[in-house]
Amino acid sequence: MDELKKHVSTVLTHASDILVDHAEGCRIHSSDGNTFLDFTSGIGVTNTGHCHPKVVKAVQEQAASLLFGQQNIVYHKPGLELMGKLAEVLPDELSHFFFSNSGAEAVEGAVKLAKMSTGRPNVIVFQGSFHGRTHLTMGMTTSKTIYRAKYQPLTPGIFVSPFPYTYYYRSRYGWNEEETVRFALDELERLLKSQTSPEETAAVIIEPILGEGGYVPAPHGFMQELRDFADKHGMLLISDEIQSGFGRTGKFFAFEHDGVLPDIVTIAKGLASGMPLSGIAYKPELAKNWDPGSHGGTYGGNPVSCAAASAGIDVIREERLAENAAARGEQLMEGLLKLQKEYPVIGDVRGRGLMVATEFSKAGKPESSGLGELKKQALADGLMLLSCGTFGNVIRWIPPLIVSADEIAEGLDIFAGALKKVYG
Ligand SMILES: Cc1ncc(COP(=O)(O)O)c(C=O)c1O
Repeated sequence: MDELKKHVSTVLTHASDILVDHAEGCRIHSSDGNTFLDFTSGIGVTNTGHCHPKVVKAVQEQAASLLFGQQNIVYHKPGLELMGKLAEVLPDELSHFFFSNSGAEAVEGAVKLAKMSTGRPNVIVFQGSFHGRTHLTMGMTTSKTIYRAKYQPLTPGIFVSPFPYTYYYRSRYGWNEEETVRFALDELERLLKSQTSPEETAAVIIEPILGEGGYVPAPHGFMQELRDFADKHGMLLISDEIQSGFGRTGKFFAFEHDGVLPDIVTIAKGLASGMPLSGIAYKPELAKNWDPGSHGGTYGGNPVSCAAASAGIDVIREERLAENAAARGEQLMEGLLKLQKEYPVIGDVRGRGLMVATEFSKAGKPESSGLGELKKQALADGLMLLSCGTFGNVIRWIPPLIVSADEIAEGLDIFAGALKKVYG
């Protein structure tokens, strides 16, 4: 296998050298016989855990009866059944669905729908967002320059406004949450006066919890302000739930924390437990102007992926995984807050459900110099962690939603040991 690694594209970075043999639940087993507690969930994908038996069974049965049913050519049962299930877990108004394969494709679909339905060309995104790596979504992504550098020029018609990232603005300017939110809202209005007029702005798109940009929940109330802003200017509100959806934050979707109804919701990752599937859910009235045939894709809504997604939704509901995410998230935050007292280099502990961040800083400045070593040490001790954030100074905590209290305690123990070695 080491010999074969020479064929792997060098454009990919790797968080570890592990060659996986198999995985189940929250554990990854390597081919050399080691076991790791997986607190990455494959970047927020394996919400139901690795190889949940019900998901595996659904995949196996579906694969044996229909591997592919092209969505422009036929309807298939797994696709329709999944739409029925999604309609149950989403607000009644979001009753139409379009399926694709990756998160970026879902965001592309959302923007295309927003453009056609409003007849307006531009979109507003937030500073620090990650919406994907295709040419359009790369232009919408501002979490790190590495995702865009040397690929310019990017797609035009994308305007960036500050995200209400309280810890960031507090560290630099001493602002509190209210001041940060006011600033973000003022800047949104200023954008409409200075760069993109309302008449040419189709939508504002937000990750209710900034993902790659640092695991920053939008302060409560901000989503409602955004809803009002969009309504006032005749724009659509798109909630990018690709990382925050499917129980991750303690609710089925993160927008539910604020009781706000978006016009379009993008879904992927946790949707199908690792099988490739993404999509958008939207208000049907938006599609009055969405010309039939103007959007599509060969593989979208693959029946095996749809079967996995339906089984996954059943698991999330039956095993009350959103509730577990809320409870285990609390336990995790409590443990991390204790560690923060011991290690002031942990500047902030924040999150919702099992989308939790520890942000490292020294003297008010981002501290990332020890994070590589910290993750390496944790891995050596059996815990897989990922970082995120524009400055690479955030450890993000995204275990599978099936994680137990014992596993959270085990993860915290390993992390405490790694902290001691690196920052003790
Ligand atoms: C919020 C958000 N949107 C979009 C994407 C892009 O998804 P994909 O990598 O499946 O294209 C991601 C991926 O991390 C994401 O976190």
